[in-house]
Amino acid sequence: MHHSLDPLGSCSSVSWISNGAVLTTSSARVDIQALSHSVIRVRMLPPSDEHLRLPPSFAVVQPGRPIPAVTGEERTDCVRLSTSSITVEVQKHPLRVSFLRPDGTAVAADSPAHGMGWTERGAGCYKRFAPGTHFYGFGERTGFLDKQRTAMTLWNSDVNPHTPGTDSLYVSIPFFIAFSGQSAYGIYMDTAARSAFNMGRPRFMPWTSEIDLAPLPYPEVDSEEYWFGTDEKRLDYYFFAGPVIPDVVRAYSDLTGRMQLPPLWALGYHQCRFSYCPEGQVREVARSMREVDIPCDAIYLDIDYMDGFRVFTFSPRHFPRPAQLMSDLREDGFKVVTIVDPGVKVDSQYPVYRQGRRKRVFIRRPDGRVYKGRVWPGVVAYPDFARPASRTWWADNHKALFDAGVRGIWNDMNEPSNFAADTGTLDETALHGEPGAEVEHAYVHNAYGNLMSQATQEAFARLLPNTRPFIITRAGCGGIQRHACVWTGDNSSWWEHLMMAIPMCCNMSLSGVSFVGADVGGFMDSADPELVARWTQMGAFMPLFRSHSMIRSVPQEPYALGEPYTSICRKYIKLRYRLLPYMYTLLRQCAQDGTPIMRPMVYDFPDDPATHIMYDQFMLGSHIMVAPVYLPSAAARPVYFPRGRWANLETGRIIESIGEHVLVQCPLDQIPTYLKEGSILPWGREMSYVGQREQELEVIDIFPSAAMSEGVFSVYADDGETLDYKDGKFGFVDISYNYRARGRLALTITSRDERYRCTMGVGVVHILGLPAAPKRVLLGGAPLFRVASRDELDRQGFLYDPAAGRLTLGLHVPSKHVTVEACF
Ligand code: GLC
Repeated sequence: MHHSLDPLGSCSSVSWISNGAVLTTSSARVDIQALSHSVIRVRMLPPSDEHLRLPPSFAVVQPGRPIPAVTGEERTDCVRLSTSSITVEVQKHPLRVSFLRPDGTAVAADSPAHGMGWTERGAGCYKRFAPGTHFYGFGERTGFLDKQRTAMTLWNSDVNPHTPGTDSLYVSIPFFIAFSGQSAYGIYMDTAARSAFNMGRPRFMPWTSEIDLAPLPYPEVDSEEYWFGTDEKRLDYYFFAGPVIPDVVRAYSDLTGRMQLPPLWALGYHQCRFSYCPEGQVREVARSMREVDIPCDAIYLDIDYMDGFRVFTFSPRHFPRPAQLMSDLREDGFKVVTIVDPGVKVDSQYPVYRQGRRKRVFIRRPDGRVYKGRVWPGVVAYPDFARPASRTWWADNHKALFDAGVRGIWNDMNEPSNFAADTGTLDETALHGEPGAEVEHAYVHNAYGNLMSQATQEAFARLLPNTRPFIITRAGCGGIQRHACVWTGDNSSWWEHLMMAIPMCCNMSLSGVSFVGADVGGFMDSADPELVARWTQMGAFMPLFRSHSMIRSVPQEPYALGEPYTSICRKYIKLRYRLLPYMYTLLRQCAQDGTPIMRPMVYDFPDDPATHIMYDQFMLGSHIMVAPVYLPSAAARPVYFPRGRWANLETGRIIESIGEHVLVQCPLDQIPTYLKEGSILPWGREMSYVGQREQELEVIDIFPSAAMSEGVFSVYADDGETLDYKDGKFGFVDISYNYRARGRLALTITSRDERYRCTMGVGVVHILGLPAAPKRVLLGGAPLFRVASRDELDRQGFLYDPAAGRLTLGLHVPSKHVTVEACF
């Protein structure tokens, strides 16, 4: 509440530092520094040294690029600091910070009444926002896309089931994007402690009552004000100037790091269940997948593979020959991913625990004894992943799994979860860190998942060198994308959760975590086959595509559903494999510059107000729009089409929109998906698993637009499993069209494979939205002949379908120096 903020007071002195200024008041020191022309760091530190006992950042890896030129100016009432794109204006009496765009508009201005200050728990800041501002990001949250008028606590928690009323979940990312409808900026508060945001949620009614309500975890704000704060006695935030949403997302991921390229198989379909056990059941899943012709790359072993839930062991009874099992599965194209929970069973006969004690790797209580909690194995000790030595010890323990043939690690329960405490987690006073330099759990809590995943990364680096890690985590904080992909934890087999996965994953994506997905079919409860079929359709277009289900729930595997559901799942899982060249290219782009893979409509269409709070459809890259069906028995759904032409991904049928909702038919075997005008979409081959067949671009869809008379898409390719790409061993197949000269459409396809041979076969090219048949078509200067039917396009020739407005070219050439010219 307002009165609980101890304000900063006035600035009594200013000194200039490289790229910034240090201002002092009676209760704080405020450092303001430009890290680039559009990123400003603001730090409020207590005058004493108490903050020095807080841990350094777990999230920030790149606090600045080449230092920009900053100009500074001090007046009696204010200090100004300017880069080429933003001016920080600090009012001195009392100290208030605001950011001015080049046109003079102030954004993220401290509230005149409060600004920054100390709270009972830590530190916080009040800022103003313009009415109509939308807020996106905040990591993993239930609810809709826009968090305007929402108050949130960020404290990693193992909650199940979760509902719209659930506050904290497993991943906490104190980052948001504020979008006014015209421009965007972002703020990242760098903390791994509990933090809270109140984005203009109105006051509660001031009724008096005898009931003694618990105090709110966050201060109240007025309706044009927001607040963010942390339990740390320091406030360290970064302001990203934008001015567009993609700039903010990229700058945030620049600061907190990029995802590493996972193995290509990680983009395939993953089948999981709590638990496939004993080993015969795992074999049965694998056999059924192949028998029923459902592509699949990964099978997961949940906790029951272990010996009494002891990490890094196999149950001698249920998994007596893990190496044999995994080698048989490998023959069949499956990778095995095992769950690894942090809790180590307290058992004096168990070598991992005994060694851990000897090496003093566990989190301790303030009295120096090992901290104990309770998870699946019973009483457990928790490794202190904040210590490098503990991480290395943990990493080395993976030998037992990797030697047996495990190729992916699933880090769960790493909030960390503790069934023995009412809080569900560790005591905040438990201690991390090296002896003599301990830090309380309260300040490390949200980073525990990051540190655990970092230890797992080390396991791959030490034990499987030159193999790309596949690590999936439940918990994390800012920067988790550097270490692992994330699934959204224990959702339920509810239609509401199918829908919620859209805004949830979009907000994760905007928070830097692009490789993300929700359990397909829903985890808790039993799913009916229609829900699984609809969810599989959507999952096929989401970055991480894993089906998972709770113990004792009805089987949710695609082959167990019965018809027509099994066939619908097959159709979309197969489609997913054909999308891999496109998806892998998006993944690579994200690893390069942080561009999100899956994103809300507002990311691509910020000028269209209808998209600003849109939560029930999304973009996969900038080319594909997906409008999932999230209601039972729905035979149609309204789909919003931003202005322009859109081609149905399956039928090629074109919708021309002025920016409107259209009721689209969607029988059970169809999910509305569209290709945006101007796009190029490469389709790969159908496969039962990644690497089963050599990749080819079987089909390329090209949808030239009137406005964009040329386009290019470069399909990324590398070996998909080693780190050789870091030495430049990758290539591209460049596909481009030029429709500038009316009456002539030129198309070129060529591979750049100097460092990695990526030339692949090109089958058929569809050119969509063409009003007339070409008079002639030349391939490499030689005429292509018109054929009479689609069947004849398995060899060279062309066919024009006037009803669909589609020209199909049968090319069947390698992707090297291909030139096609169509004359109208
Ligand atoms: C947790 C996980 C879930 C897993 C279960 C058993 O609930 O979130 O995915 O199946 O633990 O390990």
